[in-house]
Order: sequence, then structure tokens, then C-alpha cells
Amino acid sequence: MNQLTFLTLLGIAIRPSEAQQDYTPFVNPFIGAEGPIPGYAYGGGDIFVGAAVPFGVVKLGIDTQEDNVTIATINGGYTPRGLVTGVSMMHESGTGGCPKYGVISQMPLTNVGAPINFLDNTTYWQKRVGQDEASVGSFATDLENGVHISLTGSRHAGQLRYEFPGDQKHVLVDVSHFLPEPTGGFCTQHYLDGSIGIAEDNKTYTGHGTYAGGFNLGAPYTVYFCGEFDTAPQDAQTWHGLNTSRVANGTTPQPTIGGRNVTAKPNGDRVGAIFSWTDVSSSTIQSKVGISFISIEKACAFKDTELPSWNEDDHVAAARKEWNADVFSKIRVDTGESANATNLILLYSSLYFMHLMPSNRTGENPLWESDEPSWDDFYCIWDTFRNTISLSHLITPEASESQIRSLIDIYRHQGYMPDGRSGNDNGLSQGGSNADNWLADAYVKGMRGDVNWVDGYAAMRKDAEVSTNGSNKEGRGALDDWLTYGYVTEASERSISRSVEYSLNDFALSQVAKGEKPEEAEKYLNRSAGWQHLWNHDTPSVKTTPVFTGFLTPKSGDGTFNTTNYNPATCDVCSWPSVTYEGTPFEYSFVIPHDVETLIDFMGGQTSFESRLDYIFQPNTSQTNLGANGLGITTIMNIGNEPDFATPYLYNYINKQWKSVNQSRALARQFFKNAPFGVPGNSDSGALNSWLIWQMLGLYPIVTQPVYLLSSPWFSDINMTINGNRTLRITAEGLGEDSYFVQGVKINGKEWQKNWFLHDDVMVEGGTIEFTLGEENVVWETEDGPPSPGHVRV
Ligand SMILES: *[C@@H]1O[C@H](CO)[C@@H](O)[C@H](O)[C@H]1NC(C)=O
Ligand SMILES: *[C@@H]1O[C@H](CO)[C@@H](O)[C@H](O)[C@H]1NC(C)=O
Ligand SMILES: *[C@@H]1O[C@H](CO)[C@@H](O)[C@H](O)[C@H]1NC(C)=O
Ligand SMILES: *[C@@H]1O[C@H](CO)[C@@H](O)[C@H](O)[C@H]1NC(C)=O
Ligand SMILES: *[C@@H]1O[C@H](CO)[C@@H](O)[C@H](O)[C@H]1NC(C)=O
Ligand SMILES: *[C@@H]1O[C@H](CO)[C@@H](O)[C@H](O)[C@H]1NC(C)=O
Ligand SMILES: *[C@@H]1O[C@H](CO)[C@@H](O)[C@H](O)[C@H]1NC(C)=O
Ligand SMILES: *[C@@H]1O[C@H](CO)[C@@H](O)[C@H](O)[C@H]1NC(C)=O
Ligand SMILES: *[C@@H]1O[C@H](CO)[C@@H](O)[C@H](O)[C@H]1NC(C)=O
Ligand SMILES: *[C@@H]1O[C@H](CO)[C@@H](O)[C@H](O)[C@H]1NC(C)=O
Ligand SMILES: *[C@@H]1O[C@H](CO)[C@@H](O)[C@H](O)[C@H]1NC(C)=O
Ligand SMILES: *[C@@H]1O[C@H](CO)[C@@H](O)[C@H](O)[C@H]1NC(C)=O
Repeated sequence: MNQLTFLTLLGIAIRPSEAQQDYTPFVNPFIGAEGPIPGYAYGGGDIFVGAAVPFGVVKLGIDTQEDNVTIATINGGYTPRGLVTGVSMMHESGTGGCPKYGVISQMPLTNVGAPINFLDNTTYWQKRVGQDEASVGSFATDLENGVHISLTGSRHAGQLRYEFPGDQKHVLVDVSHFLPEPTGGFCTQHYLDGSIGIAEDNKTYTGHGTYAGGFNLGAPYTVYFCGEFDTAPQDAQTWHGLNTSRVANGTTPQPTIGGRNVTAKPNGDRVGAIFSWTDVSSSTIQSKVGISFISIEKACAFKDTELPSWNEDDHVAAARKEWNADVFSKIRVDTGESANATNLILLYSSLYFMHLMPSNRTGENPLWESDEPSWDDFYCIWDTFRNTISLSHLITPEASESQIRSLIDIYRHQGYMPDGRSGNDNGLSQGGSNADNWLADAYVKGMRGDVNWVDGYAAMRKDAEVSTNGSNKEGRGALDDWLTYGYVTEASERSISRSVEYSLNDFALSQVAKGEKPEEAEKYLNRSAGWQHLWNHDTPSVKTTPVFTGFLTPKSGDGTFNTTNYNPATCDVCSWPSVTYEGTPFEYSFVIPHDVETLIDFMGGQTSFESRLDYIFQPNTSQTNLGANGLGITTIMNIGNEPDFATPYLYNYINKQWKSVNQSRALARQFFKNAPFGVPGNSDSGALNSWLIWQMLGLYPIVTQPVYLLSSPWFSDINMTINGNRTLRITAEGLGEDSYFVQGVKINGKEWQKNWFLHDDVMVEGGTIEFTLGEENVVWETEDGPPSPGHVRV
């Protein structure tokens, strides 16, 4: 579909000096827009497609409705073929669960008479015709009613341009519009309250909307808006009507139209406005909309200052400049004639999707006064802690520090750091309290800056010591078990995956304690071995050849393992009530990054560890259906979801680095493509994308440790700007289509015999990593494998 439109842009790539290099032609904003079922988003990236700046509050794009409810996935607003229900200012990118946002909308119409009913989008929703067009900072589509829509935006404002086909020119504003949950699940969003008023000249309108719910079951949040048209409409009226989500009998009443100002209170009405141009010769109507979490005045100021002209090209240029300067230019590879265009597109598109979230809401926190930065849409850290945050630490250190300060400030004012957070409210925690891992990762890599580490450690300690009593909102809901037994008992949900995550969380605490509270380091280190309590050395695999023995196994509080009908390759629904979350015990039994040494030992030593690893990459070994979290993947190893992200690299721990290269590269090539179905599952705020970037760099970070594993780069020359102003250069001599096995490595000019290195080696002052690659797989590493700093036995 949209491929052609995107590729034509490549021709106009300008490449003058390095400083001005424009990387935006290499971004395909549709990668992840589609899943394995053509035309549907289901099982795809759930990405946002539209106009946005890095970490933008505004992500301006179309909202759609998909016809087949069983596979409808509208989390990012955009779907390849869904009917357009509106164009809205706020979106998430890459999330699963119920949609969040899709608020502050407009919809261009060419008819407002019967059968149109503003309370029923099914009467005006639109098919699209032709091909959607998207590039960094802009989006355009054609509706069946003949209206051409093009969108551009800035950090807190968006510009919407409509070309109408004839005399009928209307724009509907629906304050009560949001992205619904197609199946009407428990985490659907709600519209709670709204108001809208039209100014004297009919050109501007202002108001607010209040919404709640979504995947994080979030508390109500309010968005103020300020809209303006470039041309005064001759007719401008508000409307209000019954909250139709309450209508049970199928008849949607008509709204009441008329008046300059309307508010939802006291009857809980839906509210909106309709603008009509009856005496305007121009076919084009433009609108700018600013939003704020603080006030209408701020929303208007954002609109006026961030989008000073009506010239779309200016806005696109400004957005691209920001993307190039703040994001793309941090990783520079050769973009000349001889470059592999597919690899360029995969690299820069991945960087793009990694930087749509979280949202920088500094100055826009309505909940408390603070000098700390404010960020939202950590959605979720469960996804991004594994390698996304480690890449941010290197290439966007200012943002990374700012985000960490915000996490700590949330703890200060609301009690807990989030694992997920959106709409100014924490939720949900799928497993552990993984902000702990993020803080520890930054701490061991030397981040100090303006981070208050006394409070940072206190925030982590709260997670580790004060139970949230069965809640999934924040903290650790099964901490009572953890403190009582040293593991999560089978009486609690997700007992195995939470034990695995709490173990790493406590290791994270021990890492920070070493500097901040040395007397507590050992206690948390000991607790980080809790996963070992759940390791039953006698549990066999089921329906596998060969049979592997020794797995994480459900255990009761009295210390007995429950092996009744236990098959580690299955996990029932693999969700909230299961023993493991979005992955099987078979997979989670590999996820102990802080103590791989014990893991290898428990699996029977290096040889059986290796054969178990080999097994999970074999086709048709999966025994469970992970639904949209593993669609089309038949191996136990599931690269479509986060828990297994580091697993392909575990061969480094037994000094068979070539196998890590082989497995990880094969996964990347099979599942990551320059195509709408180009990522193997929800991109999860860019988590899947950052996995690919690390793969292309030839490195993989071990979170909570200042350690990077070496794999094999996809480019022969990479310059990365790290630590603000230093350069890491990665070169690959001998790289070719079939020539990617490491023959040798030099770091800072020195022959390197280890398949890993430390942060200080090249990530602080910069440096060089020189790979020599070839077609032969060889065991080139002669020194010890990567460390297990959490090595301790219970
Ligand atoms: C909806 O999608 C499911 C899964 O692809 C399919 O089995 C079903 O036939 C579809 N229903 C309709 C009405 O198209
Ligand atoms: C469209 O209207 C239907 C029927 O009223 C409603 O269920 C759905 O949530 C609406 N969708 C959007 C995107 O507003
Ligand atoms: C109605 O809304 C307009 C535009 O926001 C505003 O200027 C005006 O003060 C409002 N009037 C009343 C009575 O609230
Ligand atoms: C503004 O809209 C109102 C209500 O539709 C209309 O009566 C009025 O004439 C419009 N004003 C202008 C300047 O067109
Ligand atoms: C049925 O729909 C009408 C509007 O058409 C509404 O007034 C009434 O309250 C609805 N009845 C129920 C039981 O929902
Ligand atoms: C609209 O109805 C939904 C569902 O019953 C409810 O959650 C929400 O609070 C209502 N909104 C208003 C403004 O009353
Ligand atoms: C990387 O930097 C070196 C040293 O400045 C330069 O010679 C080389 O051309 C750069 N390579 C790329 C791909 O930017
Ligand atoms: C680009 O690299 C990919 C592997 O990432 C390979 O499949 C493709 O053939 C290469 N394209 C060209 C034109 O060399
Ligand atoms: C976050 O937003 C604030 C306010 O717009 C801005 O000053 C700051 O530079 C931004 N931080 C980052 C890392 O983008
Ligand atoms: C959890 O339960 C304990 C004991 O009942 C109570 O003291 C504590 O406040 C509860 N914590 C939360 C976060 O609700
Ligand atoms: C043991 O596992 C089986 C199978 O999952 C389950 O039905 C049973 O309730 C479990 N026993 C206890 C004591 O939890
Ligand atoms: C990099 O930035 C730091 C902090 O601003 C500064 O102290 C240092 O001199 C800079 N180094 C280089 C090589 O520019």
C-alpha cells in the first residue's frame, strides 16, 4: 500500500555536509502499521501514523474504526483500511491493551443534513481513497467524500488543512470523541466532561475535555484546547446531546444545535461545535489547534508561538530539523549510492519509532508544582527497560536524565514510580517495578547530573519494601509473598514471571545501594536470587525432543512444587491470571540477566544450556498461542514480545558468540522489514525498534549492568554521538551479505579477546570498536564470557 508513496521521497534526499544531513527520507512511517492479516493492524506494531516531533505531546493523526471487532486494533488511531471517524491531537504509539487518547478532534464533512447525526460517527465516518502519504512531520489522506486532509504539527499544537471538493465545507468538532475499545473491554476509555465556546468572530473556539480509563485504568485527566481557522466560517454553532455510550436500545438521539457556549454539566452531555463556510470561494480551509493540560490560555499560546505561520512547509521543515538534530544524526552511517537502502530505512525508521514516546510534558503537569521535568506516556517500562532506555542513555542523555528525574518526582508526589503511566496516572504493572531497572542502569553508567539519587534510591526502596497489596497499578502487587517466602507463591497471579522480574528489580536495588546505601547492598543482592526458589530441578519439559529437565515451577507457600499437569511450554492465557505473563515459563527460565552463571549451572552446564537454547529457535516448537503477542511465530523464542529480547545473545555467556550473531541476525532478517507488516508485534513505545537498532549496531546492552555484548554490525562504518558530544565509531571490515561472522575485534585499537566490554571502555569518552567479519563461523573469543555480578546461591 503506502510503500510507493514513501519510496518516491528517497529520490530527493539531500546530503550536503554532515551537520545538515537530512535523514528523514529514510524514515518509513508506515513500518508496523499492519499485521499479518492484510489491511488490518491486528498483530502489527499498533503504531501511530501522523505528524509528530520527538517526544511530542501532540501526535496528530486520523482515528479509525475497523469493521471486524474480533481483530480490530485501533490503539495508534491509524489502521490501514479502517473508516476515519475523526482527526485527533493525542495518540500513543505501539501499545497493546485498550486504546488511550484519540482526543481533541475535528472531522471535515461535506454534508451536515440527514442522515448525519453528530452523536453517531457511523453516519459520517469515511472510507479513504487512494494512498495515504506520510513522512517525518506530515501526513495526508483522501476521504471518499472528496476532502483531502493534510496534517503537520509541533510539540503542543497541530495544523490541519482541508481541501473541499465543492461548496459544502464543514468541520465538526466533537469534544466527546476518543478511541473506543472495539470489544468494549474493562479498560475502555470514557468521556467524562467537556465544554466548548465559539469566539465572536467565529474563527476561534476554546474549551476542555475530561476523559478517563484506557489500558492503565487511568484517573480522569483534562485537556484544554484552542482552535483557530484561517478563514471565518459564516455559520458556527455549538451542539450538545445525550452521552450515547449510555444508549442501550440502539436509537441514537439527535443533538441540540445552537448557541455560542456549551458545557457538559450538569447533565453529562456530549458537546461539540459545527463550523460551516457558505460564502467562501477558496476550496481550502486550514485550522490550528493547541492543547494544554494547564489552561485554555496556554493552549492558545502554544498554537500561536509554535505554529507562527499558516505555511505547512515551515512546520514540516521545523519538525524535520528537530528530528535530524536531536535523533537521527546521533547515529550516522554512509547514505551514499553504495549504501543498502533497506538497511538505511530500517535504521532511521527504528530511531523514529523509538522517539515518539514518552511524551515530554515539562511545564504541563496539572497535578503538582515542581521544578523537576515532567513526562508522561511511559507505556510501559515493562517494555522499554530491556534495551530502549540503555540506548537513550547513550544517544539522548539529556532526555534520559530528564525522564528519570520525572519518574522520581512522580514517586515524591504520588507515592510510587510508574511502570506504566499515561494521562497523568500510574498503571499498569504487568510484572515487577521496572523503573528500578531503569534507574540502576543509569546509575551504574554514571548518570548523576541533576538526578537526586537519595530520592531515587528511596523510590526504589519503596517498591522493594512497601507492598501494593495485589494491585497492578504500581509498585509490586505480590511483594507480601516475596518478603515472606523469598518468591511469589502460586496463590498470587503471575507467580513465575513476577518472581523473575522482582529478582532483577532487587538486583537493581543492590547496584544502586552500593553507592547510595552500601549497608543494604548485600540484602538486596541476596533477595535477587529469589527466582532460584522456584527452580525445580526435576521438572521435565513436555512434548519436546529431547526432554529438558529443570524449570521455573509454580510453588505453594508451604514449599511444595505444583507439577500437576505442568507444561513449562504453556501458560494458559499467558496474561494477568496466569503463572507467566505474555511468555511461557520455558521462556522466562532464560531471563536472569544478573546471574546467567547459576542459570547455566541449573540447566545442567554449558552443553545442555546450549542445546536448550538451540531448541527454542527451532520452528514449530511453540506449544502456546500468544495471540497478537506472537502472531506467525512458531518457535518458543518469541522476538515479537519483550521477555525474550536478550535470549538470542545468551550464547555469548558460553563463548559461542557466533551463535548469538547467527540467531539474532536471522530473527532480525525474518521479522523486521521495510513494509507495513515490518515489526513482529506491538512496537511497544519503540521497544521492538530499539532491539533492531542494537542488532544493527552489533551490540547488546545487559540492563542494570555497565556491560555490552558484542554481536555483529550491519554497516561497515557507524559514527554514534554518545554522552552528549563524544563519538563512538564502529567499523566492520569484510561485511557482506553472507559475511557477518566475527573473526576478531579491536577496541580502541587493542586486540579484544572477550565477547563483551564495559561502559567505561568506549561509552564515556567515546572510542572505536573495529570488527573483522567473515563467512566462517569461528570461536574467536578466548577470555572469560560476560560477568554474572548477581551470582549468589540461595
Ligand atoms: C473477522 O476476523 C476473523 C479472524 O481473521 C475471521 O475469522 C472472521 O471471519 C472475520 N469476520 C468477518 C465478519 O469478516
Ligand atoms: C463511533 O460510534 C459508535 C456508535 O455510537 C461508538 O460505539 C464508537 O465508540 C464511536 N467511535 C469513535 C471513534 O468515536
Ligand atoms: C464563549 O466562548 C468564547 C470562546 O472561548 C469566549 O471568548 C467567551 O467568553 C465565552 N462566553 C461565555 C459566556 O462563556
Ligand atoms: C458567526 O456564526 C453565527 C452563528 O452561525 C452567525 O449568525 C454569524 O453571522 C456568524 N458571523 C459571521 C461574521 O459570519
Ligand atoms: C432509548 O433511546 C432513547 C433515545 O432515542 C432514550 O431517550 C431512552 O432513554 C433510551 N432507553 C433506554 C432504556 O436506554
Ligand atoms: C458517558 O457514559 C459512560 C458509560 O456509561 C460513563 O462512563 C461516562 O461517565 C459518561 N459521561 C458523562 C459525561 O456522563
Ligand atoms: C566517521 O567519522 C570518521 C572520522 O571523522 C570519518 O572519517 C568517517 O567518514 C565517518 N563515517 C561516517 C559513516 O560518517
Ligand atoms: C540489503 O541488505 C539486506 C539484508 O539486510 C539484504 O537482504 C538485501 O539483499 C540488501 N540489498 C541490496 C540491494 O544489497
Ligand atoms: C522538554 O520540554 C521542555 C519544555 O518544552 C523543554 O524545555 C525541554 O528541552 C524538553 N526536553 C527534552 C529532553 O526534549
Ligand atoms: C497494604 O496493606 C497494609 C496492611 O494491611 C497496609 O498497611 C498498607 O497501607 C497497604 N498498602 C497499600 C498501598 O494499600
Ligand atoms: C496445581 O496446579 C493445577 C494445574 O494448574 C491447579 O489446578 C491446582 O489448583 C494447583 N494447586 C494448587 C494448590 O494451587
Ligand atoms: C563535552 O561536553 C562537556 C560538558 O558540556 C564538556 O565539559 C567537554 O569539554 C565537551 N567535550 C568535548 C570533546 O567537546
